[in-house]
Amino acid sequence: MPVSQPNALAAGKAAAPFLDTSVGKKLVMAVTGTILFGFVTVHMLGNLQAYMGREPMNAYAAFLKGSLHGGGIWLFRGVLLTAAILHIWNALTLTLSNMAARPVAYRSQMHQASTWASRTMPWTGVVLAVFIVFHLLHFTTGQVHPDFIPGDAYHNFVTGFQVPVVSAFYVLAQLCLGFHMWHGVWSLTQTFGLAHPRYERLRRWIAYAASILVAGVNISFPIAVLTGIIH
Ligand code: HEM
Repeated sequence: MPVSQPNALAAGKAAAPFLDTSVGKKLVMAVTGTILFGFVTVHMLGNLQAYMGREPMNAYAAFLKGSLHGGGIWLFRGVLLTAAILHIWNALTLTLSNMAARPVAYRSQMHQASTWASRTMPWTGVVLAVFIVFHLLHFTTGQVHPDFIPGDAYHNFVTGFQVPVVSAFYVLAQLCLGFHMWHGVWSLTQTFGLAHPRYERLRRWIAYAASILVAGVNISFPIAVLTGIIH
């Protein structure tokens, strides 16, 4: 029996895997965003060791590299890389399908329901992607570092931030991180079900506090080196 066109369409839609729907994609963004947010928060706390001096910071870096007989760092890198790829891929496909749904931009945009942070998510995301590649070549592998010593994270940290243009780029990237996290944390609390008006203020405050804390502490590192507080 021939299948009528609307029925065929309905069957096709039902067969589309859940993760390909916009709700599924948003869920993947929220889960991977939580992993990445958790990482930047723990990473920021770990980097606070720089204020305690060379020994504690290098001991901490060696501990991370040696955990689970050296396998821990690779497990952790695998989870982080998978989360980052899924996060970027879903962001890209969601942005493209939003653009396809509205090919002609509104003549005058109505911005009441959005914030500057939400509208700039793709741009702050691109700056962060560029920053991460630079950051790995700077502090992990050393190709773009002026005086890289493998295994001496404290030395690499101090001499790396003594270059003003590099420190300025770190500050810019952390401002982007703050704005990206601000909207990201607010948005993922909604995806995870805290969308009730009663929680609106709480969600806003969690997003403010988390983004200002992480970006603020991260920005303090290059400034502390350039002003000689960490030397
Ligand atoms: C001013 C802020 C930051 C400082 C001072 C900093 C510092 C460092 C240092 C010193 C290392 C190398 C540690 C070692 O030698 O073992 C490192 C590694 C790394 N950082 Fe950062 N970081 C900052 C911000 C960020 C941000 C915002 C991200 C992500 C968005 C990030 C992602 C990473 C990653 C993925 C690694 C490599 C970990 C590994 O696999 O070995 N960092 N960071």
